Amino acid sequence: MSQPSVNSTRIVSENELAKQNEFAGLVSEFLSADSHNKSKAFVHTYGCQGNVADGERIKGMLIEMGYILTDDINEADLVLFNTCAIREHAEDRLYGNVGALKNLKKANSNLRIVLCGCMMQQKHAAEKIKKSYPFVDIVFGTHALYRLPEMIYKNYSTGKRVFDVSDETGVIAEDLPIHRDSSFKAWLPIMYGCNNFCSYCVVPYVRGRERSRKPQDIIEEAKCLIKQGYKDITLLGQNVNSFGKGTDYNFSRLLRELNDINGDFRIRFMTSHPKDCTFELLDTIAQCDKLAKHLHLPFQSGNNRVLKEMNRGYTREKYLELLNYAYSVMPDLSVTADVIVGFPGETYEEFLDTVSLVEKAEFTSMYTFIFSSRQGTKAASMPDPVSREEKGKWFDELLKAQEKSADKRTSLMVGKTYRVLCEEVNKKGLIEGRTEGNVIIEFPGSEELVGSFANVKVTESLIWILKGELQ
Ligand code: SAH
Ligand code: SF4
Ligand code: F3S
Repeated sequence: MSQPSVNSTRIVSENELAKQNEFAGLVSEFLSADSHNKSKAFVHTYGCQGNVADGERIKGMLIEMGYILTDDINEADLVLFNTCAIREHAEDRLYGNVGALKNLKKANSNLRIVLCGCMMQQKHAAEKIKKSYPFVDIVFGTHALYRLPEMIYKNYSTGKRVFDVSDETGVIAEDLPIHRDSSFKAWLPIMYGCNNFCSYCVVPYVRGRERSRKPQDIIEEAKCLIKQGYKDITLLGQNVNSFGKGTDYNFSRLLRELNDINGDFRIRFMTSHPKDCTFELLDTIAQCDKLAKHLHLPFQSGNNRVLKEMNRGYTREKYLELLNYAYSVMPDLSVTADVIVGFPGETYEEFLDTVSLVEKAEFTSMYTFIFSSRQGTKAASMPDPVSREEKGKWFDELLKAQEKSADKRTSLMVGKTYRVLCEEVNKKGLIEGRTEGNVIIEFPGSEELVGSFANVKVTESLIWILKGELQ
């Protein structure tokens, strides 16, 4: 994979969207002519929240085309997998799940199989599907998402397979139909793509260059969500801290304007990149009452040589300085992070720097990944002498350190009362919700609480989950 050149942003025009709307109408005619019952679509999204947000738009478009959504893959007339390419495991799982669809298609020759998302944006993956999975009908990449009605129409009208995986200019398509998975938690993408080219990461290759939505479009969407009763809104981007870069409208300003909207809601965001995280941003979180006191700040490694090889653009010292400042202005702040174990060439001594950073940082939770080589990235060609088995041992060692850190942090919460968004009744019959800091808490309460805020006193910490009682 060659590094794509810097390309400019293209906002999909109203004309183009109107054309897609027409295609949606044509598909709807096909479907109603084809069967007495409504056609059913099964959609599954892999990967990050950005992909989930895309999946919600895909569902919105499918409904516009006349499909109804189903959770039962066996009764579906259209199966769509929205894929992820971040680690090898994600890709292997996808091939397995696609392979299993062959029998489904044998049972229902009308079944349409659609693959899209990050993995399909990679030429080698799309080629493999083309050659080895002939029962897949439609394949498209991340840039073509808004053209879904046209692709489905083409497939219906010609009976031919459709592939649309071009590496085009980064696009932003506003006002696509949307079907949100929740009625009180919402994803709100504020930017797309990534410019950082961390040496291990496939995202810049499959998502194109960084592009920000217009602040006004974001604020309007947020107002609309709040009016509809959404309580927890997560702003999404691979590096939200560089929002509006090159203009005089930065991320802190966006946060302040969102905070000024009237209503009972909270805002969180991910992902913050430490290289672009400023004291101004941390002050903004501290000062704005509707901003959750939660910061997802992946550090990836605690060793400066490894950070440099990763092309992360900050040092261990800079990261710890940011955290110290953040805790000084928000002692109750909950910090979460991502880390990679076993980057090519990392030694055990260097890995121990990651352990010591975890001990210092006191994350409430952490997502730990073993390095996975991604075709076309710089790290894929670096010598990687440490065995998978050895990396597994380091991984376990790091989890132990993190457990101690989290225990320290969540134990401090016992006896205090937090505002919790109640999310569901869990298997134990308890209400399960999340604190501002995104820590899961369960407590006895009535089902009607789901979707609203409640004040809950923490009675016990089991590290990954808190127990509490309604106040
Ligand atoms: N933009 C975010 C990360 C998005 S990907 C950031 O820069 O923080 C989510 C996480 O997946 C990353 O933080 C990293 O920890 C992990 N990851 C990405 N590529 C990986 C790879 N090749 N192997 C293992 N983990 C990886
Ligand atoms: Fe990947 Fe780095 Fe971009 Fe995050 S900032 S998406 S890790 S390249
Ligand atoms: Fe995966 Fe694409 Fe997200 S690679 S992690 S779905 S941006």
